[in-house]
Amino acid sequence: MPNPFFKQHFLSTDQLTKDTLPFLFHEIDTMKEIVIKEGKTNILEGRIIACVFFEPSTRTFASFTSAAQRLGAGIIPLHDMTNSSVIKGESLEDTIRSIGCSSDAIVLRHPEAYSVQNVAQYSYVPIINGGDGGHEHPTQSLLEAYTIHKHYPSLEGTTIGFVGDLKHSRTIRSLSKVLAEMEPKKFIWVSPDSLKMMPDVVDSIKKHNIEIIETDSMEKYIGEFDVMYTNRIQKERFDDPAEYEKIKDVFVTTPKLIAEAKSTMIILNPLPRVGEISPLVDTDPRALYIKEQMQNALYTRMALLKLILKD
Ligand code: NCD
Repeated sequence: MPNPFFKQHFLSTDQLTKDTLPFLFHEIDTMKEIVIKEGKTNILEGRIIACVFFEPSTRTFASFTSAAQRLGAGIIPLHDMTNSSVIKGESLEDTIRSIGCSSDAIVLRHPEAYSVQNVAQYSYVPIINGGDGGHEHPTQSLLEAYTIHKHYPSLEGTTIGFVGDLKHSRTIRSLSKVLAEMEPKKFIWVSPDSLKMMPDVVDSIKKHNIEIIETDSMEKYIGEFDVMYTNRIQKERFDDPAEYEKIKDVFVTTPKLIAEAKSTMIILNPLPRVGEISPLVDTDPRALYIKEQMQNALYTRMALLKLILKD
């Protein structure tokens, strides 16, 4: 397959399809091998990657800056935009044009939904979406799809349980769309009634042959899950803080709960967690969020940077 990512923006889960995913998984395998055997390569020597983050980040920022450097590239790490000209009133368009004159690609995280997609048209260099508000987080979904693929090379007959703030969680919205491309049997979306999956995602999943259950009971369905994906209730996306307080501890994954699950079930969470998974679950061999999922973040982001900057 010719490299469809070369010199392209990477903005949306729409770019993660049943045709491109195997191509990406193969490249991620290669990067994993490089890191394990050599630690690094010089394939992007002389290139500069800018990481421009208008929202807090630990893992996405660390793994992208590490990925760039392990590929031999340099970085412009702009983590705290309150130190930039944005504070003087500069527009996002001008910021992105300026940074593009000093870099070969820009990883951009921004609190406004669709802002990353919208600003890409003004950029002189490829833009990678590092998370746009409550909308999408496509690089996170890619690393999660890869992690799941390593445990379930085919999703045929599988049931995927998503638990938490389905309305605001960009990782759950994005992963739902990407896993639908991998054709599982069933999605079980677990959330309080007020945080159900938004209609745009429901409609896009309905185009696939996937059974959908929407419920507010984790206990009732835990025994069916092959993959359990949880995410925190997204405090910063609530208009009413009282509403968040009421709902924040509604689903907690505990040893008692997962004792009812399949021994082959895997548990993912993008982190940070703020109480939705008990630390007592961390030592369970099914808990991939504690290490494997985060290690795959590095390999995945290396693969993407390489494919975008090198044919
Ligand atoms: C997530 C994000 O930023 O959306 N974290 C991440 O990128 N690893 C999840 C979250 O903030 O809840």
